Amino acid sequence: MGFMSVLSFAHKLIGERLQPGEPAIDATAGTGQDTLFLARTCGRRGQVYAFDIQSEALALTRQRLDREPEARLAEVTLLERSHSEMEEALPRELRGTIGAIMFNLGYLPAEGADANVITLTDSTLAALESSLRLLRPKGIVTTVLYPGHAGGDAEASAVESWAASLPPSSGQTIVYRQIQKPAAPYLIAIEKK
Ligand SMILES: C[S@@+](CC[C@H](N)C(=O)[O-])C[C@H]1O[C@@H](n2cnc3c(N)ncnc32)[C@H](O)[C@@H]1O
Repeated sequence: MGFMSVLSFAHKLIGERLQPGEPAIDATAGTGQDTLFLARTCGRRGQVYAFDIQSEALALTRQRLDREPEARLAEVTLLERSHSEMEEALPRELRGTIGAIMFNLGYLPAEGADANVITLTDSTLAALESSLRLLRPKGIVTTVLYPGHAGGDAEASAVESWAASLPPSSGQTIVYRQIQKPAAPYLIAIEKK
């Protein structure tokens, strides 16, 4: 049967914590898979903010959302901005109220997309720091890392070191990884204290 994929495991961890009506953030909208998952989980009283630096990614996300019966989904705001600006981009009153924040690092997995446009260590770490301030107590941040592609290996190591150095008083951190396959994508999740 095998273990769950990293993405399914991220969805499981979030599904167990994110409550209907809560706000959530997709820090890397891409093709919108996670945005749709968050919008379904928060439900129609919730709010989702989805960030991506590529307009193409936000168009794909909008198309995916438009295929879904609207009544079941949270209101989704698409932001063509870096996730490192998430604190400035969100209404101030949402600070400390976000139930879940998802990161899926790397490049846009779409036909014709430029695989050189990838997430970068400095902005990723800045966004993760912001995430901890934006989350409510017991809120969760999930990060899918790709050590198997150029640039992704250094970014994954930096995120892992950052997460490992967090004091337990700020949150609890776990790693979900196929340890026989060091190049395979893996997950780091943090539950805020
Ligand atoms: C692996 S994809 C995300 C996959 C997505 N979750 C899905 O369901 O398809 C990574 C995305 O991060 C975006 N990205 C890169 N740097 C970013 C940044 N600084 N802020 C926000 N998004 C960024 C890329 O444009 C790309 O679409």
